Amino acid sequence: MNDLTLKSTVGELYKTPVGKDVLDKLFLQLGVKKGIVKNPLVSNLKLDTVRKLAKNKLDDDFFEAILKLVNSEKDVLEKYDKPVTKEWWKEAVFYQIYPRSFYDANKDGVGDLKGITSKLDYLKDLGVDAIWLSPIYDSPNDDNGYDIRDYRKIMTDFGTMEDFDELLQKTHEKGMRLIMDLVVNHSSDEHEWFQKALADENSPERDYYWFVKDEEGKNPPNNWLSFFSGSAWNYYPEAKAWALHIFSKKQMDLNWDNPDLRKKVSDMVSWWLDKGVDGFRMDVINYISKEALPDGTLPRGNDVIGGLIGFTGVEHYFYGPNLHKYLHELSENAFAPHKAFSVGETPGLGMNMCRLMTDERRGELNMVFSFDQLETPGHVRFDDYKYDLNYYRDYISDWMTNYGDGCWMSLFYDNHDNPRMASKVTDNPDMHEAVQTLLAAMQMTLRGTPFIFQGDEMGLVNYDFKSMDEITDVESINLYDELIQKGKTADEAFKIILAGTREHARILLPWNDKIPPEDRMQSDKTPTFLPQDIRENITEVYKKLIALRKENPTLIYAPFELLCGSKNRFIYKRADENASFTIECNLSDAPLRAKISSPDLIFRTPKYESDSSMKMLNAYEVRIYRL
Ligand code: NOJ
Repeated sequence: MNDLTLKSTVGELYKTPVGKDVLDKLFLQLGVKKGIVKNPLVSNLKLDTVRKLAKNKLDDDFFEAILKLVNSEKDVLEKYDKPVTKEWWKEAVFYQIYPRSFYDANKDGVGDLKGITSKLDYLKDLGVDAIWLSPIYDSPNDDNGYDIRDYRKIMTDFGTMEDFDELLQKTHEKGMRLIMDLVVNHSSDEHEWFQKALADENSPERDYYWFVKDEEGKNPPNNWLSFFSGSAWNYYPEAKAWALHIFSKKQMDLNWDNPDLRKKVSDMVSWWLDKGVDGFRMDVINYISKEALPDGTLPRGNDVIGGLIGFTGVEHYFYGPNLHKYLHELSENAFAPHKAFSVGETPGLGMNMCRLMTDERRGELNMVFSFDQLETPGHVRFDDYKYDLNYYRDYISDWMTNYGDGCWMSLFYDNHDNPRMASKVTDNPDMHEAVQTLLAAMQMTLRGTPFIFQGDEMGLVNYDFKSMDEITDVESINLYDELIQKGKTADEAFKIILAGTREHARILLPWNDKIPPEDRMQSDKTPTFLPQDIRENITEVYKKLIALRKENPTLIYAPFELLCGSKNRFIYKRADENASFTIECNLSDAPLRAKISSPDLIFRTPKYESDSSMKMLNAYEVRIYRL
């Protein structure tokens, strides 16, 4: 296909996989229906004309950046017309553990590996098939382990390699699998590679990172911003050089263009896989290929672009020129020989980009976590707003229908980087149980692999933090300082932090409340507040729904069919030759007249079970029928 230029039309742009993703996101942020592209008046518009029309909203550079991105992707997916393949990871229910706050066996104030091992029966009983462990490697903990100092060593806070081996062995003995976190977009600045690179500009390690020599150190090499506030560059006066970090100042970006670095990463992955680990969740894996170091062209602060991309510079690495090549290579060299599983964390990617990374014919990744469902259009994580589940219905129906049988979705609402979804949907505590049941029911009956985040099954909601003293997370602390610098009052800034802080997801799980508070305060990285109560009703709901999913492969593999998607309603069907399920949901807090009426009810929000009439769907009620 020829390269697109400003003379190309909107229709031509929309026909390319990447162009479609970008325009879909843009339409979403602008509140415009996607169908608008079918209107010839729009599809025949030249990009140059759009550029002139959109002068106030979009930079000229925006068009340049999009054209570059679109033209760099030459691959197109052929239609996938085979039946969907069966894989253990499509059938599994995953459970994410954030080790620091999961279970503290030695009562030193920090969760540990022995704690996890002691809870394996609990997880098995819940119905979990596979565990994803957030990082447990040696780290100075600038970003709670996402800054790795030694990839082959266990963090002493969490225990020893023997503790890990025991955990892995017991997990397998109980018939479960275990995947680790692979954090290789960056390493800690305390990693020996970075230390050698800094000390000697002729060392081989120097090229493992993004160093730029500069005698003066006045202006960073470009305007890229860090996701954790401020410039993405550190200046090292002793080396007279800058080095790139798109996350914290201690998380230095690795240069994947260096073949030796890629080999080191692949050897390390193989080393863990040889130990018997079943796969990896791959941290911001779509950021590994960086396109030289040009200035970012999409400035933060512009509402439209802010919602679309977020951070200056990101367009030069969120879908970089060698991304497919590097993923394919890592898969060939490490994952495939071990038949290991991979799920990539891929912020910012649209559906087509995700398809190109996960289609099973391409040998890159098995699955990705895409994030567009986590906030409704026009909002970012730090906004205090009410999440409208109508958006989730539209988002998920679109993916279920168009992602394709060669790709497979992950299904999740929460993780260690986000406030709890139930709290975003409603701040009415009386409604949480119903919302949590609804979320769990959709997660276990939609087509994809569920990832439960620790505490979801206990009915945990956001924590009512009282002040910045209780906040330990580097992202929140830096953002708070930035907000104050920009003129917000302490109260205003704290309110923003409270809405979006990752700390909500990182509080100690309630079973730790047997640890006396004075012990809980021993580590400066461990929150000191009391955990919430476990809601056993929700645990029972999870058990029931997980069991239902396991007993019925129809709920795993059968196609998804949307039966009704009108306001506040979500009715869908999962049917094949073995069974037929219809799921009816009320996505709002106002009662709705039920549309499905049948004696074949197999699950209903327990809270409403005593309600004898089936005529009305109560607030956030969900019903599952086996018809
Ligand atoms: C994504 C991880 O989930 C997050 O916790 C971390 O801070 C960044 N990547 C940087 O590693």
